[in-house]
Order: sequence, then C-alpha cells, then structure tokens
Amino acid sequence: MKKLQLAVCLATIMGTTGLMGNAIAADNLAEFHAQNQECDSCHTPDGELSNDSLTYENQQCVACHGTMAEVAETTKHEHYNAHDSHFPGDVACTSCHSAHEKSMVYCDSCHSFDFDMPYAEKWQRNEPTIAELAKDKSERQAALASAPRDTVDVVVVGTGGAGFSAAVSAHDNGAKVILIEKEPVIGGNAKLAAGGMNAAWTDQQKAKNITDSPEMMYKDTMKGGRDINDPALVKILSSHSKGSVDWMTAMGADLNDVGRMGGASANRSHRPTGGAGVGAHVVQVLYDNAVERNIDLRMNTRGIEILKDDSGKVKGILVKGMYKGYYWVKADAVILATGGFAKNNERVSKLDAKLKGFISTNQPGATGDGIDVAGNAGAAMKDLEYIQAHPTLSVKGGVMVTEAVRGNGAILVNREGKRFVNEITTRDKASAAILAQTGKSAFLVFDDSVRKSLTKIDKYIGLGVAPTSDSLVKLGDMDGVGIDGKALAETVARYNSFVTSGKDADFERPNLPRALNEGNYYAIEVTPGVHHTMGGVMIDTKAEVMNAKQQVIPGLYGAGEVTGGVHGANRLGGNAISDIITFGRLAGEEAAKYSKKN
Ligand code: FAD
Ligand code: FUM
Repeated sequence: MKKLQLAVCLATIMGTTGLMGNAIAADNLAEFHAQNQECDSCHTPDGELSNDSLTYENQQCVACHGTMAEVAETTKHEHYNAHDSHFPGDVACTSCHSAHEKSMVYCDSCHSFDFDMPYAEKWQRNEPTIAELAKDKSERQAALASAPRDTVDVVVVGTGGAGFSAAVSAHDNGAKVILIEKEPVIGGNAKLAAGGMNAAWTDQQKAKNITDSPEMMYKDTMKGGRDINDPALVKILSSHSKGSVDWMTAMGADLNDVGRMGGASANRSHRPTGGAGVGAHVVQVLYDNAVERNIDLRMNTRGIEILKDDSGKVKGILVKGMYKGYYWVKADAVILATGGFAKNNERVSKLDAKLKGFISTNQPGATGDGIDVAGNAGAAMKDLEYIQAHPTLSVKGGVMVTEAVRGNGAILVNREGKRFVNEITTRDKASAAILAQTGKSAFLVFDDSVRKSLTKIDKYIGLGVAPTSDSLVKLGDMDGVGIDGKALAETVARYNSFVTSGKDADFERPNLPRALNEGNYYAIEVTPGVHHTMGGVMIDTKAEVMNAKQQVIPGLYGAGEVTGGVHGANRLGGNAISDIITFGRLAGEEAAKYSKKN
C-alpha cells in the first residue's frame, strides 16, 4: 500500500467519517469511499476484480482498517460486537460489506437479536437452485466449450469439516487440490458445532479413567439410529474415531475435555479444554493446515455439475464464481462435502411435513446443493426422509444451546416448573417431549457450577439469552421467563436429592453430574429447530459414490452430512464431527490414490 494512499485512508477512517466510532456516512461503502478516494484504492488499476474470493480487495480493506480482530478491539460495545466473530479462518470484509450494495450483517442469517446494530436487518438468501441454474444454457455451454481454467488431481466441494479434512488428506497423499466454497465464509455447519466430537478409547478418555470401546460406540450409534444405519459405515466411524482425534491432535487441536452427549453409554464427546465449542476450533486447525500446505481455496464459488467422459468416469466439475461466472476445472476426482439441507425448509418439509415452518440451527449454505449435483450425476440416495430436530434452540436470538449443557448437569422444566423427560435421552425423544409442553417450549435450568464447567455457556449469557437470578423462585417470576417459581424450586430440590442418591427416580436419567445449588441460576427458553439431515448420497466404505445399481461412479466421492447411511434414522450428538473428520480423511486419501492410477 502506498504511503500517501494509507494516509488518506486513515484520515478518512479516523477523522472525517468516524467509521471507527458509530456514525457511518453512507450505506453503500463504494459511495462512501469515493468521497475521498479513487476506485484503485480498492481495486487493481485495470479495474478487474481479483478473483471470486476478492483477495486483493479484502487486502485493501485490511491495509486501511486493520484485521477483523483489530477492528473488533476498537468497536467494543456492551451487548454485541459484530466484528468479534466466532467464525474461524480469515473472515473477508466483503462478507458483510459488499461495497457496491448496502452492507448486510451475515450473522443475521442465523440470529435474530434485537440489538441496535448497524445494518442489522433480516438477511435474505437469493440463490437460484441447481435446477434453476440449468436455464443459464448458453453461458454454461460457452464455459464447457472453452478449455478448463485449471487442471488438478482432486476438487473438493465445501469447506466444512469434511471438505477441509478431505483437502488436507488428499494433499498429504500427493494430490494437487482445489477446494471451493459457495459462501463468503468458511466452515459450513462444522464451525458451529458446540458439544463435541465422539470418539472411543482415546488417550484423552484413558487419562480420565473413562471406560469405553469402539464396540460400545458402534452399539450406541446403531441403537440411536434405530438400527437402519449401514453397519459397514458405522464400523468405520467407531473404529477410526480414535485415529481421527489423534490426526486432529497431531495437527494442533486440543480435544482434551471429554463429556457426555445424548444416547451415549460413556463420556466420549471430545472438545477443547474448558468446554469451548468444538467446531470453530476444529475448522480453525484444519484451515491453518490447509493454508500451511498452500491449498488453493476459492470462496464464493459454487459447484454446479459433475462432468464425466464418455466412459462415465469423472473428468472434472463445472463451477460458478460469484464474480467470474462459469468455468470448469479438469480433475480426476471430485469429492462432494457440501453438507446437509436443514436450512432449506422447502426441501425439508417435502420430506417431513411435520417440520414445515420450523426454524433451523444451520448456516445459510445448508441448502442441499450436493444432493442435486450428485443426483444429476446418477448418484443413489439413502434415508433422505430422516431429518432431525435439535431440542434446544433458544427462542430468543436463535442460538442453538449445546446438548453439553444438559450433559454437564442442566435440567429441562416446563412452564409449570416440572421436569418432563430424561434430559440426555436421544434428540428425537427430547424434541417430541418439549413440543408436548404448554407453548411448545421449555426451559433449560442450570446454576453457576454448570456454567463454570463449559465456557461455551458464557457466550449464551453474553448474547443475553439466559436470564439469571440468585433465587429459583425469583428466576421463575422474571420477565421473559414465566415458570411457576415455587414449583421450580421444589423440582430442583428433588433433582438434587437424586444427585445425592445417584438415582433419578422420575426419569432414569443415566448421568447426574452435579447438584444445582451454586451461585446464580439461569433459565434459557428453548424449542426444537431443524438440525441435521441424516440421509443423502449413498457411499461405500471407500467414500465412493454409488449409483442406483449400487455400482461405483468412478472418480466421485462423498463425505459428511451430504451422505446417508452413517447415522440411520437419528444421529447421536457428537457423531457428526467424528463422521466428517473420518470420512473426509478417507475420501481425500482414496481420491488421491484413484487420481494416481488414472
Ligand atoms: P458443513 O460443515 O455444513 O460444510 C458444507 C459446506 O459446503 C458449507 O460451507 C456449504 O456452504 C458448502 N456448500 C454447499 N453447497 C455447495 C456448493 N454447491 N458449492 C460449494 N460449496 C457448497 N455435530 C457434532 O458431532 N457435534 C456437535 O457439537 C455439533 N454441534 C452442532 C451445532 C450446530 C449449531 C449445528 C448446525 C450442527 C452441529 N453439529 C454437531 C452437526 C455438524 O456440525 C454437521 O453435521 C457437520 O459439521 C457437517 O459437516 P460437513 O463438512 O459435512 O458439512
Ligand atoms: O448440542 C450440540 O452440541 C449439538 C451436537 C450435535 O449436533 O452433535
């Protein structure tokens, strides 16, 4: 950055407009910048956008304004700080400030806070479906008639945990890789994962004297999935889970805290020390490793169509860059790691009418593109009709409150102040029980000892979704709570007596980690939200995608939530992060091997 230009930028920021304070002169940043600067303060002198990730343009923002963490430091507020993000990776400024349009808070795509935040309004996704894009006939044909823009061994589609694991593993097995992501930010749903990563018989469990085994994990997973899971895939999940924790640990992850999640017969959910969310950490570690390996990562780039040669083998993929348009990449293998479709209520409710109109815990990109892209390439689907609701999405703010809060001791009570379910039963049962209560919601109640056991809880408190009081009676009567306070106090006293006796005489809750009698009490109102799509593309034990005749589609691989079979009819909490790391690694390794042979 030229010195003079930097001086102009700084004067603009700090002085004239006060961007680092609150007042922003124009909604449209291009207009606002143009008050003092030329186009080339943001763009290259030839006026071309650098690429679909807008690498150059974002570097210009950072050169003037500082990194997002630096901006967060200078924009601290009491309740919120839009720049103090829980997202991993380097969040591009253009994710919210697209410059020639009004800025838009990306966080709004999931949350619905009533904070006074600039540019907060309901974020809308205006993305055509894969089928609608078929109308772009001439543009697509022109792209396909041209030479491929790039030639690599493996293209990975999606930057969640499965995609990053696949990209790193394919690279480490000798492949040249391109990793594409349709959203402006990395991490998919994986970055939101909170409660943990399930794994059996790990060093971390042994250090805590926890008895577990891959066989126990296998049995729990099959039982939770109502025994319709593909047993061969579950075997891989359970027997590779320790290896996946070790793989992540060797790359720099901290998975030392181990807790309980629903449907598990042992404490096997691994998360960072102190109980921070597992997903942002895992994705950050994978991202850092991908950057270290110089893996070509392209944001705002959507995988549209799998391309095959005359013999039916994959020869590449047609993609659409948000700014650069259609082009194709020649590759021996493509790995679909596009996640699930729980954010797409139209698709969800066609498969399960009961879920029509439900809100979702998912990120906006979880629309199910991978199902369409794989389907158009001849892939068979498995178990699409099984869609899971997560029991505890906060009614205020739309924050998914991790199952680990219950695993660490919180109870669920209704408005009448009564418990009504074993809090750590499987999600299908807990969700159904909550929907049967007055108002179709319930309250997660816990004390400071639970709060201290899981640092993630401080985030919920910080976001203002957890009213608190030093008395249970007062808590129940608070505005925005509305539980019978006297009954609540009696319920907690009875629950504490079960903790002392070691037996839950009311609901046979199998773990009773602590009494609720320390410091302040908290109550978060929760209701179920569409969370996980168990079904998807059919794969074999090498993560190869299968067609309807159960034959492999040569060169096409699938990993993570886009696939079906691992979780059967109902996934256990903590099993998805395990799934995506294990099958992502496997897909990367197999695709790299396949590419060498072709
Ligand atoms: P994702 O992480 O969703 O990534 C898929 C990526 O592909 C996305 O970035 C998406 O934008 C991108 N994409 C989609 N279509 C295209 C396309 N056409 N072209 C390019 N890119 C595309 N599981 C656990 O085991 N433990 C937990 O604690 C846990 N907590 C959770 C908390 C929340 C709030 C949520 C929503 C889920 C949680 N889960 C948890 C589930 C778990 O996070 C997901 O199942 C898992 O992360 C899916 O990983 P994935 O890599 O398959 O897909
Ligand atoms: O509640 C949670 O932390 C979510 C876990 C999961 O979806 O596995």
